Amino acid sequence: MLQPTYPYYLANKPQSPNADLEVIDKYTGEIATRIAVANREAIDLAIQKAVEATEPMAKMPSYQRQDILNHCVKRFTERAEELAVALCIEAGKPIKDSRGEVSRLIDTFRIAAEEAVRMTGEVMPMDISSRAKGYTGMWRRVPIGPCSFISPFNFPLNLAAHKVAPAIAVGCPFILKPASLTPIGAIIIGEVLAETDLPEGAFSVLPCGRSEADLFTTDDRLKLLSFTGSPGVGWDLKAKAGKKKVVLELGGNAACVVDEDADVEDAISRIIFGAYYQSGQSCVSVQRILVHEKIYDDFRQRLLAKTSTLKMGNPKEDTTFIGPMISEKEAKRLDSWVQNAVNGGAKLLCGGNRQGAMLQATLLEDVPANAEVNCQEAFGPVAVLTKFSNFDEALKMVNDSEFGLQAGIFTNDIYKAHKAWNELEVGGVIIGDVPSWRVDHMPYGGVKESGLGREGIRFAMEDMTEIRLMVLRTPPHK
Ligand code: SIN
Repeated sequence: MLQPTYPYYLANKPQSPNADLEVIDKYTGEIATRIAVANREAIDLAIQKAVEATEPMAKMPSYQRQDILNHCVKRFTERAEELAVALCIEAGKPIKDSRGEVSRLIDTFRIAAEEAVRMTGEVMPMDISSRAKGYTGMWRRVPIGPCSFISPFNFPLNLAAHKVAPAIAVGCPFILKPASLTPIGAIIIGEVLAETDLPEGAFSVLPCGRSEADLFTTDDRLKLLSFTGSPGVGWDLKAKAGKKKVVLELGGNAACVVDEDADVEDAISRIIFGAYYQSGQSCVSVQRILVHEKIYDDFRQRLLAKTSTLKMGNPKEDTTFIGPMISEKEAKRLDSWVQNAVNGGAKLLCGGNRQGAMLQATLLEDVPANAEVNCQEAFGPVAVLTKFSNFDEALKMVNDSEFGLQAGIFTNDIYKAHKAWNELEVGGVIIGDVPSWRVDHMPYGGVKESGLGREGIRFAMEDMTEIRLMVLRTPPHK
C-alpha cells in the first residue's frame, strides 16, 4: 500500500530532489519506502515562504480556514485504512491501535474546524478610576506568525495534527519536521493539505537530519516552537530557541493509584491497556502502579495472569497486542533498565524477554526507588508494581517524581478524588481511569520536567496567537 518513494512538501508543493531517507518496516526490518530529505537551503526557503505567507494566512476569513480543515477531515476519513497501514508499518504500531490513531487524527481536525470559527475576544470597561473615565478596551487574538513544529515517532499522525490543525485554525503558516523514523504520516498530511487553497508558503513538511533541524529551533523568523518528544531534547531546544515562544510536550513516568475500594477487575483491564498498548510508547503510559495493601495480593495475581497472556507478534494482525518497539536500540536500552532493577533487588513477575526490537510485556515489583524503570521515563512495555498503606502516602508517591504529566486514580470516594486533583503535581488527573486516557480537545500537557504549555486544540490556538488590545477614548464632548 505504500508508494515506493515520497516527496517532502516545501511551500505547499511536493519536491523530490532525492529519496535519501529509508523508512524501515519496524516489524520485518525491511525497507518499506524512501523519502526525500530537506537540506539547509530547502529549510531556509521554507521559512522565507512561511514569512511571506504570514499576511495572507492572517487575512484568510475563518470560514475558509474551516473549509480547509473540513476538507482534511473528509480526505482522512476516505484514506483511513491506508493511513492506518502506513502507521502500522512505519511505527510497528499494532493495526488496531493504528486505526485508533487515525480516528483521533480525524477528531483533531474536526475539533479544529469547529474552533476555527469560534475564536472570540472581550470588551472591557476601562473606567476603573477617574483618570480612565471615557475609555473602553477591546481585545482579540491575532496569529503569532510562522511556527516551527517538531513531532515525535510514537503518534506520527495525531501528534503532528495537534500542531498543524490549530495553526490552520488560527491562521499561522508553519514548517513541520516529522520524526525521521516515522515520517510517512506527516507527509500524507502534507499531501492532503496540498489539495487545499492554503496560500503558498502556508505549510512545509520537511523530514531532515539533526544538524539541519537546528534551523527549526534557532531561526528568529519563526515565532513559536512546538516540540513533542523526550525531556532531554525538549529542554535543550528551549535553551536554544531565542526569543520565540516555546511549547514542550515531554514525557513522564506516569503513576496510577488503585485504592482499597476500587473495582479490581475494571482497574486491571484499564491498566493493561494503559501500560502496554502500543508497547508502552506513550508519554502517559502507566509506568508506576500503586496498589493499596488490602487488595495488593489479589490485584497482583490477577494483573500478572492477564499480562502474561498478551499476544506479542506481527502488528499487522488484528489479534496482536504487543508489537515491536521503535528500534532495537530502544528495546535494548529498556531491557538493560529491567536487568539493572533486577540486579538491584527487584522481582521480575513476568516478561523481560527480548528478541530484537520486541520486548515482552514486563511487570516488576520491589523495585528500588532509584532504579531507572521507576524514576526515569521507560517509554516501553514495562510497569512497576508498588504497595501503599494509605491514600495520602500514595499521593506523595505519585508526586515523588521529576515529572508531572497525568495521573490516574481508581477510587469511589469523591473526596479522595478531589484531594488528588488538589494535591497532585501534574497537568491532568484522571479519576476512574488510567493516566493514558486522552481525548483530543482536552487540555493536555505537563508540569515539572514534563513540559510547558498545553495542547488540545483550543489551548494550542491560544499559544499560537497574541492578544491585541484596542483602547477607545471617547472625548468628553462626544
Ligand atoms: C503522548 O505520547 O504524548 C500523547 C499521548 C496521546 O495522545 O494519547
